[in-house]
Amino acid sequence: MSEFILEMNGISKEFTGVKALSNVSFKVKKGEIHFLVGENGAGKSTLMKVLSGVYPHGTYQGDIVFNGGVQSFAKISDSVNAGIAIIYQELALFPDLTVYENIFAGNEVKHGAFVDWNRTIVRAKEMLQKVKLNVNPEVLIKDLGVGKQQLVEIAKALSKEVKLLILDEPTAALNEDDSENLLQLLRELKNQGITCIMISHKLKEVIAIADKATVLRDGKTICTLDASKGEITENNIIKNMVGREIDDIYPKRTNRQFGNSILELRDWSAYDPKLGRSVVKNVHLHVKKGEIVGIAGLMGSGRTELAQSIFGNPKSYKLQGEMDLDGKRSVFKHPQDAITAGIAYVTEDRKGDGLFLIQDIKSNITAANLHEISSRGFINSNEEVSISNSYKQSLNIKAPSIEQIVGNLSGGNQQKVSLGKWLFVGPKLLILDEPTRGIDVGAKFEIYTIMNKLISEGMSIIMISSELGEILGMSDRIYIMAEGRMKGELSIEEADQEKIMHFATQ
Ligand SMILES: Nc1ncnc2c1ncn2[C@@H]1O[C@H](COP(=O)(O)OP(=O)(O)OP(=O)(O)O)[C@@H](O)[C@H]1O
Ligand SMILES: [Mg+2]
Repeated sequence: MSEFILEMNGISKEFTGVKALSNVSFKVKKGEIHFLVGENGAGKSTLMKVLSGVYPHGTYQGDIVFNGGVQSFAKISDSVNAGIAIIYQELALFPDLTVYENIFAGNEVKHGAFVDWNRTIVRAKEMLQKVKLNVNPEVLIKDLGVGKQQLVEIAKALSKEVKLLILDEPTAALNEDDSENLLQLLRELKNQGITCIMISHKLKEVIAIADKATVLRDGKTICTLDASKGEITENNIIKNMVGREIDDIYPKRTNRQFGNSILELRDWSAYDPKLGRSVVKNVHLHVKKGEIVGIAGLMGSGRTELAQSIFGNPKSYKLQGEMDLDGKRSVFKHPQDAITAGIAYVTEDRKGDGLFLIQDIKSNITAANLHEISSRGFINSNEEVSISNSYKQSLNIKAPSIEQIVGNLSGGNQQKVSLGKWLFVGPKLLILDEPTRGIDVGAKFEIYTIMNKLISEGMSIIMISSELGEILGMSDRIYIMAEGRMKGELSIEEADQEKIMHFATQ
């Protein structure tokens, strides 16, 4: 039998107007951890959807040889039965069901025609042990953090005798600890002979655990790098991904001169009546004109809640304290008030409240500032087209046209549309919440360059980020939050990774 558990030969896949994959070949050896890397829109997710039967046989060209046989999966369950499990970035668990119900949904332990719930729970415990998740199988999924939910997804995959485990950006939403746990688990699964394909934009991870890394660019295979030959280095990956070298992914800024205070919070607190507790506690913060202020902290430290409390309080927290915007005492009852006053907020959750996925790029870009392109209640469509095209170009949004539906764009390109939408508002203060989550290195560099340009034009930026490299590489000043409080403030000169983590874990 071949040493390869998977061979995808000459795969091509077209969507109307987009050639997502052209003649891609991809081979994976049994028992290896094989990364798929490439820029946003390179075709990584599409290739895995072809493999797992999301796009059935007959809707693509080329062939798939898995586990010694040519496969023509007509639906997802065919690939599952063959031993392939795929975990998408958007988790597919049922939030209102328990952990064990999720693990065995549709696959319960039966006794005759009846589900044997006691044995199902025992089996669930075994699966949870395999992924080293120490939770009661009877708790509800929605009561677990994302890191733990991710492990439940893997437990679910393992319950079905998986031979090949595919993870599409599994650590994008995880903090450093949870990511490290997950990587450790993948190493152990590898020792048990499970082959793993992983998609990630975090090069650190690729370098840490990949045996091989295949680079896709513009729907084509560029190369497969081999760790045992020392080929998996950051430079090598970036060079092959973007087709050029990037010396420093944080573009240098020479001028660090700031104007007056643009935002000032004094003794600012937010009480969440739904949770019955305060999510932001006695925060003092200021941002100057032309300044990038980074907010670091672990997941759940209150950073997003702080941003929302500033941006018109959409979750209706009970607010206390004072906020001055551009020297004026401000009370916003609704996000629209904040937008009118000059604040824009690019959310971390582009699927939830960032974008209208069923609409096209141009409607999304102009959505927050329609009056700018309207007269007497009518949208001037010529203007809408030319403005959207200019953002498509300046942000390098990869799509055949601005008429493309946003839900069909790759993850990173959706993020750029979201950024374009808020830049078009022309804010004084731009709040970016995890701005480069799921974004490839080349596009990150573009977004950082845009940020630098915006502040040189007098905008101010608050950047919430879990990537310490990005916080240290881009901020002028850094605040660190934990448990709803500001635990520390560091100038960029004094800041380093250890100091930030010290405050974040206080
Ligand atoms: N259902 C669809 N309809 C139309 N075009 C699509 C569809 N799905 C993907 N595409 C296009 O195919 C290309 C490849 O997308 P894909 O999602 O595979 O990229 P990716 O490499 O996973 O990117 P990312 O890192 O941003 O997730 C993109 O240009 C995307 O816009
Ligand atoms: Mg993808």
